[in-house]
Amino acid sequence: MPLVPTYIETLAPYQAGRSPTEVCREFGLDRAVKLASNENPFGPSPRALTAISNSLSSLAGYPSGGAELRAVLAGQFGVRTANVIAGSGSEGIMSNIIRTFLCDGDEVLTVDVTFIGFRVLAQSRGVSYRTVPLRNWRLDLPQLAEGVNERTKIVYLANPNNPTGAFFTRAEFDAFYARIPERVLIILDEAYYEYAKDAPDFPDSMHYRYDNVITLRTFSKAYGLAGARIGYGFAHEALISNLLKVKLPFEPSSLAEAAGIAALGDAGFLAQTLEANATGLELVTRELRAMGVEVLPSHANFVMTLWPSAAAADGIVRNLMKAGIIVRPLSAFGVPTGVRITIGTPHDNQLLILALSRIVREQEYAVCKQ
Ligand SMILES: Cc1ncc(COP(=O)(O)O)c(C=O)c1O
Repeated sequence: MPLVPTYIETLAPYQAGRSPTEVCREFGLDRAVKLASNENPFGPSPRALTAISNSLSSLAGYPSGGAELRAVLAGQFGVRTANVIAGSGSEGIMSNIIRTFLCDGDEVLTVDVTFIGFRVLAQSRGVSYRTVPLRNWRLDLPQLAEGVNERTKIVYLANPNNPTGAFFTRAEFDAFYARIPERVLIILDEAYYEYAKDAPDFPDSMHYRYDNVITLRTFSKAYGLAGARIGYGFAHEALISNLLKVKLPFEPSSLAEAAGIAALGDAGFLAQTLEANATGLELVTRELRAMGVEVLPSHANFVMTLWPSAAAADGIVRNLMKAGIIVRPLSAFGVPTGVRITIGTPHDNQLLILALSRIVREQEYAVCKQ
């Protein structure tokens, strides 16, 4: 009997984007910007940083398990604390969902181009992970509904989706929901909610408080707290109470919880982040398209670009890295011709546009000369 089950032995682990330090070392650069992991380029709210400093003095004590943050979120979103969970990032909560709801023989269903972290978690549980293709780079909800069978326990939907940046609409979700049996748990992963929430037909999942729907959100993106590991979820209290049994009792950390509460209280910082992102997104999309690059329309803090071949996409990633700009190749997402680029500060965006216009010209030149 092997020590490690086959499904772990064969698991392709999640690979995080490369760090600026690594890239500087490899290419002998003084500075590199990371536009690879959809982080907030402005960092966290100063209020979150102050809250972290203030809570340092209580580090000797165990945290509350997220009780205070849950109460604040309940107040802010008009639900009861019993409907809220807080955890170590939304991925921490996803991991609890996997452990709480899946049994041997169950199946998880999603689309083939989406957040890799969820696939890794589901496969580490040894259950079947089934996907349906995207349609025109959007989630094909009718096909997903069609794909549900008697073994399906969880349907995972990232909205907006990563790496495409597209969202499905209210009408699409309504039609989908009507076809899903109640015994199937629908995860609505809204990691990029803040960026999309004001789009007219974005289906804010707070309007879908059905018994079998769980919303996941995070402080890692618009709130600039990816390093703190803090996220939250909303669901029916029966789901939350079972998740709480499984969750590590002292997750999230007290520093992360304090940061999250303070970040929620800084509406001004969030508004500035969203405004800068909207301007940067518009600029990057327009400038890259003007260079002839295929850029998918996005409602998040990143864009997915498509290149004529996998070799061209690799060349773009590598040449940008040499210029001190780290972006995300999408072969691990199943799109070898794709490259995802996070929207940065106005300065980062200008650097990207300049570097990319030079690289596109040179890369085309190299292709012509062959
Ligand atoms: C769709 C999606 N969900 C979840 C996460 C993970 O978020 P967290 O840092 O809260 O675990 C990411 C991060 O890239 C993401 O893109």
